[in-house]
Amino acid sequence: MPLPRLPVMGWSALEGARAASVPSLLDRQQVVLTSSGSAAILLALEALDTSLGQRVLVPTYHCPTMVAPVQTLGAQPLFYPLTESGAPDLDWLSRQSLHDVKAMVAVHFFGLPQPMEPVAAWCRERSIALIEDCAHALFGLAAGQPVGRWGAFAIGSLKKFLPVDDGGCLVPNHPFVLPALSKRSFTADLKSALNTIELGARYGRLRGAGFAVMAGLGLVRRVRGRRPFVAEPGDEDRIDAVASKLDVALAHRRITRPSSWLARWLPRERIVERRRRHYAHLVERLGASRAMHPLLPALPSHCAPYVFPLWVRQPDPGYLALRGAGVPVYRWNRCWPGTPLIPGDSGPAWAHHVLQIGCHQDLSDHDVDCITDILLQTFEVDAPGSIDET
Ligand SMILES: Cc1ncc(COP(=O)(O)O)c(C=O)c1O
Repeated sequence: MPLPRLPVMGWSALEGARAASVPSLLDRQQVVLTSSGSAAILLALEALDTSLGQRVLVPTYHCPTMVAPVQTLGAQPLFYPLTESGAPDLDWLSRQSLHDVKAMVAVHFFGLPQPMEPVAAWCRERSIALIEDCAHALFGLAAGQPVGRWGAFAIGSLKKFLPVDDGGCLVPNHPFVLPALSKRSFTADLKSALNTIELGARYGRLRGAGFAVMAGLGLVRRVRGRRPFVAEPGDEDRIDAVASKLDVALAHRRITRPSSWLARWLPRERIVERRRRHYAHLVERLGASRAMHPLLPALPSHCAPYVFPLWVRQPDPGYLALRGAGVPVYRWNRCWPGTPLIPGDSGPAWAHHVLQIGCHQDLSDHDVDCITDILLQTFEVDAPGSIDET
């Protein structure tokens, strides 16, 4: 500990088959690589002509980066509840007044594909544009169809799956006019490459590169004016502050060249295979706990999970202790101001109880064992007998 919260560059990233056994958004011909997933949502909303005062449906369970693009355009987020499985509650939505609703952001939470056909049909009937948020699901099949094909647009977030310094993707499913993205400067490209190398070296994943890495790190310090934004335990407030503001100029620039190159050329099967293995291992080790349980123990067969969602009966104060110990864990317990409490909504309970445990490909089996040991030590202590309190 601390363990990387997201994939980091290392020699092992070059291993395995280039093509994944599960389809990816990146396979699509029309994919536009953007500076981030949040930028991709902004570009989708712009292409849909979303304007001041219009409304965009966003789930009550969210991170600020999903809502910031809506606010940036002067539109209003209209928060909708989720069912127990994390699907939009279409019954509740159908009872609402939906005037001026332009678009809906629907998410495949945790990388476990949701059936999107009912959501797409609901949107079609109301002329609401569906933005399929695949930030957690760069790979996957939903109801036999590759993720990212249901809506007007799909968006992805590359840093969650690849050892890259920046990047998102936007996939239009209809012939939209997309804004031309401006090129990145040479310095931005160089920083991106050096940040990628530095992170890999910091976590010991580029062993043997010796001189090259050390020279690279020396260059990092000279070229980069400030530290890269790499999340560390305790950085939550900073993450929230950064995430809730969208850099509009950056959102209209391309991904950096090193990240684009890595996104196109790194082998992909290892990403799918290792994430699935870690997820299964976490289910096995934590499944019998009295203090917590896997939110969704059955991993669908064609997907690569982003994280392992773990329901913890009493997540506080353990959650902060986990972060302090360097466990790769997130919790979406800071809702956008004005997020409503809606009866029957799973969102607030998830925001409180669900910890998103890292299960990415650059954690070793030993790392995953250490994570489960710490989880058990943190939450099993004095856990009363029942499995669940809801
Ligand atoms: C569901 C979802 N959508 C969109 C985003 C934004 O992606 P990015 O961090 O690449 O801007 C995130 C980021 O965490 C996310 O979790």
